[in-house]
Amino acid sequence: MKVIHKINELKEIIKEQKGKSIGLVPTMGALHEGHGSLIKKSVEQNDFTIVSVFVNPVQFGINEDFDKYPRTLEKDAKLAEELGADVIFNPSVDEMYTDTQELTLVCPPYSAINKLCGKSRPGHFDGVATVVSKLFNITQCTRAYFGQKDAQQLFIIKKMVKDLNFNVEIVPCPIVREKDGLALSSRNTYLKDDARADALKLSKALNYAKELRKKGVNDKQMLCDSALKILEGTNVDYIEIVNPETFEDWQETDKRALMLIAAKIPPTDTRLIDNMEI
Ligand code: PAJ
Repeated sequence: MKVIHKINELKEIIKEQKGKSIGLVPTMGALHEGHGSLIKKSVEQNDFTIVSVFVNPVQFGINEDFDKYPRTLEKDAKLAEELGADVIFNPSVDEMYTDTQELTLVCPPYSAINKLCGKSRPGHFDGVATVVSKLFNITQCTRAYFGQKDAQQLFIIKKMVKDLNFNVEIVPCPIVREKDGLALSSRNTYLKDDARADALKLSKALNYAKELRKKGVNDKQMLCDSALKILEGTNVDYIEIVNPETFEDWQETDKRALMLIAAKIPPTDTRLIDNMEI
């Protein structure tokens, strides 16, 4: 497996793959089994798999964790290689952007970003859509793999591919969790001792809401309030229920319901997200 830092070098390697299917797994590194499941699927479904590892400055707000985001390239390369990836693409910020202030951005529509993570992280999804578009253009991938853990991101990327006619098949992958339910995340490395118990409250709250709905509770307020009780001790950023197909506010007549939570975990205020169909 090769680790490539330059766009032109990657393009040369891609040229050699003529006629072969190319799978792309976009990541920001600090790879864990969640990313691993995407890589595995890509290796199964394609002749050639590229894992991009790039902490994208354009999708971070000024007070967010861009500087302290974990960077573990050596470990990442080992895992990607074990899983059968062919290339890690790890460009520098300068290689990807000549000037992040004077950049042509891909901006998802307001209706897709005025809620959930888009609301609490202004500009975030412009940054995601822009870097993902660049990666699609650079790699000319046949398929690209995204986790349902970032459900709003997946929804926005699917819409972008449709709206802008990208010739890429988006493959959604289920959330990988620890045995106790905690969704794997690169940001879990920020959690120390007691914080992990608080972090676990996200999946507990989602599971509880799912149980309630199974028992016939269909009242949105009641479902959210019950989940909120479990989240006590964390700083809840949002808790919402949407229709998973449209990402519009869930109506009690909608059959499918996706509950999404973002919460900051004290004492370091690590921001975690999770979601579940309930
Ligand atoms: P990152 O947070 O590194 O995640 C890369 C991919 O892994 C995303 O598609 C995410 O949904 C998926 N993923 C993360 N944790 C997962 C888990 N526990 N189970 C299943 N999939 C999981 O998302 C990004 O990076 C960036 O925004 C990116 C798309 C790379 C653009 O910069």
